[in-house]
Amino acid sequence: MTAQLIDGKVIAENVRKEVAEEIAKMVAAGKPRPGLATVLVGDRVDSATYVRSKQKACAELGIESYGHQLPADASQKEVEELVKKLSDDPKVNGILVQLPLPSHLDEEKVLQTIAIEKDVDGFHPINIGRLAQKGRDPLFVPCTPYGCIYLLEQAGVKIDGANAVVLGRSNIVGMPAALLLIGKNATVTVCHSHTRDIPGVVRQADILIAAIGKTEMVRGDWIKPGAAIIDVGINSKPDPTKSKGYRLVGDVNFEEAKEVAGWITPVPGGVGPMTIAMLMKNTLRAAQIQNP
Ligand code: GUN
Repeated sequence: MTAQLIDGKVIAENVRKEVAEEIAKMVAAGKPRPGLATVLVGDRVDSATYVRSKQKACAELGIESYGHQLPADASQKEVEELVKKLSDDPKVNGILVQLPLPSHLDEEKVLQTIAIEKDVDGFHPINIGRLAQKGRDPLFVPCTPYGCIYLLEQAGVKIDGANAVVLGRSNIVGMPAALLLIGKNATVTVCHSHTRDIPGVVRQADILIAAIGKTEMVRGDWIKPGAAIIDVGINSKPDPTKSKGYRLVGDVNFEEAKEVAGWITPVPGGVGPMTIAMLMKNTLRAAQIQNP
């Protein structure tokens, strides 16, 4: 193995420790404990698991969490009214609407209803708009892309002037990751389903953020020697040696890539733990903005 492993578990744990210490200080100074409201619409098992992990992290760090669940057939009005109520509630500093929403709901309209100073996911159109503009800063940066950049910075990877390639253009990861990299002076190419010669584009990358959701798509011979590889993918791969019959792998073939890259994140234990750590950091920031 030539690559240095970027250990997301250790880095996320350090972020969580810093957040917990800051919250303990706030509370000791008589300030209200930060509060995060979660909104889960419907009964997707994966979404319910994510929301539970977020609530567990809140409990561990000293953040109050307020869980709200609506049925899968909830109306646009019901969801918006709940989000408006939470936006007006002074105990709630951050609001997280778990995505995806059921397909009959207008996601953009729901996200627009979140008070901007409580938008700890950074998906409000104003926050995304600010992220896309030069010289403007969003109040909050979306948690997974924020985690990716944080990992690169902690590992000491130079972003300024680097050729960065982002695989995937989702609203949650790919697009905001590309905008963040541009803001840090990288030269960025975003690859998607219509891109010609993805391997050829990836071979130019000093930094690769893979968020395309395709099992081990990126092969070792696509990687520029010494590149930094951030693998956001979480895919299950059949594995009869495991009791569950599968194991989790990323969008990058780790065994091949680690022999060529300069830095690489494992799956699991890379980007995964960072998403919740950055959500906790954003929630602390929201509380600091609202209760200065
Ligand atoms: N679904 C997948 N990732 C995320 C995330 O970071 N935030 C929300 N709200 N929903 C998601």
